[in-house]
Amino acid sequence: ASRLPQQFTDVLVIGGGVAGLRAAIAAADGGCDVLLLTKDTIDESNTWYAQGGIAAVLQPADSYASHVSDTEKGGAGLCDHEAVEIVVKEGPQRVLELLQWGINFDKDASKAHGLAFTLEGGHSFARILHAYGDSTGKELAQTLINTVRARENIRIGEKTFVVDLITDDHAQAHQPPGRCVGVLALVRGQLNIIWAKTTILASGGAGQLYRESTNPKIATADGHAMAWRAGAAVKDMEMVQFHPTTLYVAGASRALITEAVRGEGAYLVDRNGYRFMKDYHEMGELAPRDVVSRAIVEQIRKTNFTHVYLDVRHLPPKEFRERFPQLAKLVDQFEIDPAKDVIPIHPAAHYMIGGVDVDLQGRSSLAGLYAVGEASCTGLHGANRLGSNSLLEGLTFGARAGLDAVTAVRELGAYKFPQTLEHRVPRSTKTELDIIDVKSSLRSVMWRNVGIERTGDRLAETREIIAFWSRYVMDKVFDPQVLGEATAVQGWEVQNMLAVCALITSAAYTRTESRGAHYRMDYPTRDDAHWRLHLLWRRPMETP
Ligand code: FAD
Ligand code: SIN
Repeated sequence: ASRLPQQFTDVLVIGGGVAGLRAAIAAADGGCDVLLLTKDTIDESNTWYAQGGIAAVLQPADSYASHVSDTEKGGAGLCDHEAVEIVVKEGPQRVLELLQWGINFDKDASKAHGLAFTLEGGHSFARILHAYGDSTGKELAQTLINTVRARENIRIGEKTFVVDLITDDHAQAHQPPGRCVGVLALVRGQLNIIWAKTTILASGGAGQLYRESTNPKIATADGHAMAWRAGAAVKDMEMVQFHPTTLYVAGASRALITEAVRGEGAYLVDRNGYRFMKDYHEMGELAPRDVVSRAIVEQIRKTNFTHVYLDVRHLPPKEFRERFPQLAKLVDQFEIDPAKDVIPIHPAAHYMIGGVDVDLQGRSSLAGLYAVGEASCTGLHGANRLGSNSLLEGLTFGARAGLDAVTAVRELGAYKFPQTLEHRVPRSTKTELDIIDVKSSLRSVMWRNVGIERTGDRLAETREIIAFWSRYVMDKVFDPQVLGEATAVQGWEVQNMLAVCALITSAAYTRTESRGAHYRMDYPTRDDAHWRLHLLWRRPMETP
């Protein structure tokens, strides 16, 4: 291992979505050398595909108290109040700063800052900013990427897969897990050691763990898995958010249909044309996401059908097309005319609420490691995230972590990187492995048994299935030199997926109540007396 090429940096950022980009800018502006890595090209992230917008209190008639209260109501008793206050109060400054960096939010001259705002589920005020109608993520990402590229002290390494975090077990009072000192990464087909004084994990979400998902292919929970392996604590892993409305057309991918469509007045109707949401929640179509997703599943069951519909036929067609150009293009492909036809929809896995447990500066429990964005769990979202709060969290905590990393780098001074590495490679068995098959079977079983509705029996069964597959996959050595880069990466991704699926399933099994995004059919009510708490998971570490 000592012969692997080595690179050095003050701050290593793993991920080029909103959280990683914002963290990199903060660290670079504080004078640090920054290296930012992405597993694919920098334009392939959950951030890039974000549609609805960014929530921010920017209008005089809105208030911090209202945004805090909406977020905490949505979070079903599990929000960390300090994290909510920070994001709600600092977020607007982070958003206004984007205007200076050239972001082109949609305009409305009659509103504060000349910006247009819309409504989304669980928000009691129209506080969602958007760009090019339903392409907010692309505009946000592009603005941040341009800002990053303008900083001379940020290097970007695209198509660089981070395999694992490296820890110096002896750095913290000789106690494992010690300190994170960098990563092992695949750089142009060659494993490299990248030494970093601080590492910021901004590796995004986990949607690909489920067969039905709104997330792009990159979202395989690599960061959650590598942090867990390195000994960092993870939190709220049972909390996976399912988005109510993805296009349901046989053979098509589960493209997201933004919640803002309902914010602008769309109805949800069943196969009989019945508008059912008022039967489930007083906020109707704009109830929090967990409520709408479950209501859809229940209505599908009641009507003995495969899906329900979004109905926008009562909205002015021209304005609709102008407001949601991406959606208009999508439905056109399937010859669905939103002015005349209802749009078939179904829920899909969307957002990983749980993640690496962090404090208010984004510091994880492992020294030297920060986590931000979807890879982290700040406690902002509690048991259920409100739409458009995620980009805001990425901006706010990205900036906080980047700034704090600057102080950490200064305090560390001339850090001596460990010179020798202990490289323990598990023995690989000879069994042939169809990694594609394991991946798709895992995604199916997660969707069936660890999805919107869960039961103890099926969770227990799933734990055993995952443990069985893990016995075959976890000890395999995916050598890029032997297997080629793409196969090795796929193998590592499946190992990461198995590790995180096991955590989600165990957490979901343990929480014997229903709360927010976690719904147990065998424990259908919320139990504040026993379960108003977080489940924290940490890997048992061997002492050397
Ligand atoms: P991401 O943007 O996902 O970026 C992750 C980065 O990590 C990528 O650059 C990736 O290459 C890198 N990475 C991952 N693993 C590795 C590895 N092993 N090695 C190297 N690099 C790695 N939220 C809102 O607030 N408003 C919205 O309107 C909205 N709409 C959404 C629409 C869709 C379709 C989706 C999928 C999500 C939406 N969300 C929205 C959620 C939001 O987009 C994400 O939660 C947020 O963008 C996550 O940002 P991030 O920086 O944490 O991660
Ligand atoms: C959407 O546009 O519906 C997604 C918003 C979000 O996930 O925050």
